[in-house]
Amino acid sequence: MTGIYAPPEATSVVAAADAPLLRGLFPAAVGAAELCGGAVGIELWPAEAQAVERAVPGRVWEFAAGRACARVAMAQLGHAAVAVPARPDRAPAWPTGLVGSITHTSGYCAAVVASASLYVGIGIDVEQVGAIGADLWSRLYTPTELDWLQGQSDAWRDEAAALLFCAKEAFYKSQYPSTGRWLEFDDVEVEVHRPAEGFEVGTYTIRVVGQVSPASFPSSAHGRYCTRGGLLLASAWAEQSGSST
Ligand SMILES: CC(C)(COP(=O)(O)OP(=O)(O)OC[C@H]1O[C@@H](n2cnc3c(N)ncnc32)[C@H](O)[C@@H]1OP(=O)(O)O)[C@@H](O)C(=O)NCCC(=O)NCCS
Repeated sequence: MTGIYAPPEATSVVAAADAPLLRGLFPAAVGAAELCGGAVGIELWPAEAQAVERAVPGRVWEFAAGRACARVAMAQLGHAAVAVPARPDRAPAWPTGLVGSITHTSGYCAAVVASASLYVGIGIDVEQVGAIGADLWSRLYTPTELDWLQGQSDAWRDEAAALLFCAKEAFYKSQYPSTGRWLEFDDVEVEVHRPAEGFEVGTYTIRVVGQVSPASFPSSAHGRYCTRGGLLLASAWAEQSGSST
């Protein structure tokens, strides 16, 4: 499907500097943009349309919104606005020289891009806090992570569970385009560092701990996270060796 898809609420794509959730989630060299709520006039480019030609309108919107965010993020790097088709495996086909990532959930979408000369990969993921029910935890988290979760306050445990999930998905997205590697949830382990008093953004380290074959990607990455309005957003990035951003 091509043309304009227009869901009811109207907002616009905002660059990271003005974005309440994205601000501070990545190093400055990463371009980022987000869209809160619905949007009027999201354009789906012909080169991107094939991926959603049989999709329901909501799916078309989220797909198109991701591409709109991606183009605003590219502009921050001085990159021309280009189409970002979907690969057969669903991962975005970023233009040569860029790495990037897209995420969406009901009422929210974000995209990030960066130079491939600086980063092997970057990833972003958003989840609703409370969406990862306790019945799922033993299938998603390692024994160390489960112990850590049990040690958290009742008030923060749902958010902590969403954070572990988001961090793993963000890391998965960061590594997949260069490795093509499938990772189970217990193949990686997240170590969380909560924000200092008065700060919104926390950090984490994520490491590959499973028996996955070596690939062209570091076995650990950095990430940051924040929560706002019931949404938890996590970032992940791995720098090229010799680059420090
Ligand atoms: C691919 C996956 C990570 C997407 O996450 P999600 O929470 O379902 O959905 P999100 O909205 O956050 O992200 C969807 C976007 O991810 C991107 N994406 C899809 N497959 C991808 C892949 N293999 N690699 C990188 N990005 C991918 C796409 O841009 C997609 O949006 P689009 O189809 O509109 O372009 C998830 O569906 C999945 O397969 N997870 C299993 C693997 C995993 O996470 N393991 C964790 C252990 S490390």
